[in-house]
Amino acid sequence: MKHLLSLRDLSADEIRNLLERALEMKAHPGRYSGALRGKALAMIFEKPSLRTRVSFDVGIHQLGGYSVNLTPVEINLGKRESVRDVARNLGRMVQGIMVRTFAHSIAEEMALHAGVPVINGLTDFSHPCQGLADYMTVLEVKGGLKGVKVAYVGDGNNVAHSLIYGGASLGVHFTIATPAGYEPNPQVVEWGRAKAKETGGRVEVLRDAAAAVRAADVVYTDVWASMGQESEAAERRRIFAPYRVDEALFGEAAPDAVFMHCLPAHRGEEVTDAVIDSPRSVVYQQAENRVHGQKAVMLELMG
Ligand code: CP
Ligand code: NVA
Repeated sequence: MKHLLSLRDLSADEIRNLLERALEMKAHPGRYSGALRGKALAMIFEKPSLRTRVSFDVGIHQLGGYSVNLTPVEINLGKRESVRDVARNLGRMVQGIMVRTFAHSIAEEMALHAGVPVINGLTDFSHPCQGLADYMTVLEVKGGLKGVKVAYVGDGNNVAHSLIYGGASLGVHFTIATPAGYEPNPQVVEWGRAKAKETGGRVEVLRDAAAAVRAADVVYTDVWASMGQESEAAERRRIFAPYRVDEALFGEAAPDAVFMHCLPAHRGEEVTDAVIDSPRSVVYQQAENRVHGQKAVMLELMG
C-alpha cells in the first residue's frame, strides 16, 4: 500500500490489519508515541471539515509528527499552480499528503506525482478514512463484521461508496435504499457484488427504506446534499423525505441495532434528534475512531 485513495485498493487482509492496528493503538496509545517522530503531513482542504481536520492533526501529533494545514485560498489548487506541481513541491518537503477535494481525479493526480503517500480525506467519489473508522466501530459494537447487516438509507454518495468497498471485502451484508436516480455508482456496486461473492458478503440496492432497514444490525445515513451540492439542497429535501431515519424507521431494525452517521448531521432532515441522540447512536464513537483509524493508516504509509 502506497497511497490510500479508495478502500477498493486494499485487500481484505490489509483492511483487517489496519482495523486491528487501529484497535491496538486505541487501547495502547503510548506504544506508538514516537512512531512518526519528526515527520510532516501536509493537509489540503478544498472543502470544510471538523472531524477530518482535527483527527489527522491530533493523530500525527500523537505519533510524534506534525501537520501543515493548507487552505484553498493559500494554494488555489489547479489555478495558482497545477495539481502536479503542488504535489511535486509538497513531495520534497513533507512525508505525506492528505487531500480533501472535489473530483476524485485530483487526488489520483496528486498520488501520481507526489512521490510521497497521498491519503484521500474525502472526494466527491469516496471517503475511505470514514469507511475504516466506521467498520472499526461496527467491530467494536457488534464484535465482528462477517454477516453483520448494515442498512444505509439515503444518498448513494462518497460515504456509501466507501462502505460498499470496505463492506464487500469484510463480508458485511450491505443493503442500501435510495430514491430513483440517487443510487450508488453502478461500477462500485458491481465491484462490491463480485467481491462479496468471494467473502460471503452481500451488496443489495433497494428503493424501499423500511425493507432495507428490516432486521438490520446497523442503520446508517448521511446528509442528503453533500458538500458541493448546496444548490440542490431544497430539491433533495423533497425527494429524500421518505428516507429520513426517525424512530419508526429505526424501529424496523433489530432490537439491538445501532445508528451510525459520518457527521455532520442535518438534524431533522436525514435523521431526527430522537434517533441520533438515542443510547443506540454511536456517531461520536465513529468520530473518535477517525483518530485511531487514520493513525494506523499514517503509520502504515509514512512509517
Ligand atoms: N465525517 C467527516 O469527514 O467530517 P468532516 O467533514 O467534519 O471532516
Ligand atoms: N457526503 C458528505 C460527507 C461529509 C463527511 C459530503 O461529502 O459532504
